[in-house]
Amino acid sequence: MEYRRLGKSGLKVSALSFGSWVTFGNQVGDTTAETLMKKAYDAGINFFDNAELYADGKSEEVMGDILKKMKWKRDTFLVSSKVYWGGKLPNQYGLSRKHVTEGCHAALKRLQVDYLDLFFCHRADRETPVEETVFTMNDLIRQGKILYWGTSEWTADTIMQAHYIAKENNLIGPTMEQPQYNMFHRERFELEYRRLYTEIGLGTTIWSPLASGILTNKYANGIPEGTRVQQPELQWLRDFVASEEGKTRIEKTKILAKLADDLGTTVSKLALAWCLKNPNVSTVILGATKNAQLDENLDALNVLPLITEEVSEKIEGILGNKPKFPLYG
Ligand SMILES: NC(=O)c1ccc[n+]([C@@H]2O[C@H](COP(=O)([O-])OP(=O)(O)OC[C@H]3O[C@@H](n4cnc5c(N)ncnc54)[C@H](OP(=O)(O)O)[C@@H]3O)[C@@H](O)[C@H]2O)c1
Repeated sequence: MEYRRLGKSGLKVSALSFGSWVTFGNQVGDTTAETLMKKAYDAGINFFDNAELYADGKSEEVMGDILKKMKWKRDTFLVSSKVYWGGKLPNQYGLSRKHVTEGCHAALKRLQVDYLDLFFCHRADRETPVEETVFTMNDLIRQGKILYWGTSEWTADTIMQAHYIAKENNLIGPTMEQPQYNMFHRERFELEYRRLYTEIGLGTTIWSPLASGILTNKYANGIPEGTRVQQPELQWLRDFVASEEGKTRIEKTKILAKLADDLGTTVSKLALAWCLKNPNVSTVILGATKNAQLDENLDALNVLPLITEEVSEKIEGILGNKPKFPLYG
């Protein structure tokens, strides 16, 4: 396993990490969840990602039980939660001092840990001043309940705003962002955030590196049984896969699969290695429902050397979506 610094912080995070969205407490049983987490840990993964939203808290409960059962030393793993969607009542969601504080306390209980290593604002909240959230996160750090805080899918401007509010008030600002990043979804990560990496030293824990499985080529001939796309609550994903853009991505994946084959690897590994190749990626969060998937994905680091200049250009040619940098700014 390779370990990278989380942005400019001193925290070392494994280049591959493991998340539980759709899977824990939902698509996979608790025994499978345990086998997958153990496999990830044994391979050197040190970061496990979670959120209050996932399976309405059940995902954190399942992960908490596994952490307790495994008895891994606390200084050998990082665990996260994300706050925003805790419920439907007025103060059960958003980034107010009340919900961020209560969301943190509830996650600590479900995960059965004394502190969260990483705590994310799952989205930005237009109804809470950024100051309120920055001060609250700083308080949680001072209280020892979280170690680092960050954002997920915030605009570059709002992340910068949070950074400067923290700076002006001698508080601890956001260390990391959790954005979607994969071969098909690049603009925000590569273009919008580009100055944040150098100017504030932002770390990144990227999600859906396989575009929810599309980049495995598993949808080449229709939707196989038991896949995420069939999960009842993911109608939007079913709609997306059936859309023109979804179909285009499936077709491009077929071509990428041919390239991967020529290189002696699989398209899943190539797609993950492509993310890892970007030095602004601190960690690629993997998702898996089966042992064999995780085995395959864990091998992605070995595929990194195959992505030469020439291969990168071939990939760009297939994707045709390289973000265009503005002439100024
Ligand atoms: N911050 C956010 O807003 C946000 C949003 C989404 C995710 N996340 C985080 O990022 C993590 C990863 O996201 P993701 O689960 O969407 O990642 P992903 O890698 O894009 O998709 C993972 C899914 O693809 C399928 N798959 C994975 N490897 C495969 C392989 N080798 N062969 C065939 N199928 C394979 C599995 O689903 P099936 O077996 O069902 O096909 C698996 O659950 C999440 O667990 C969560 O922690 C964060």
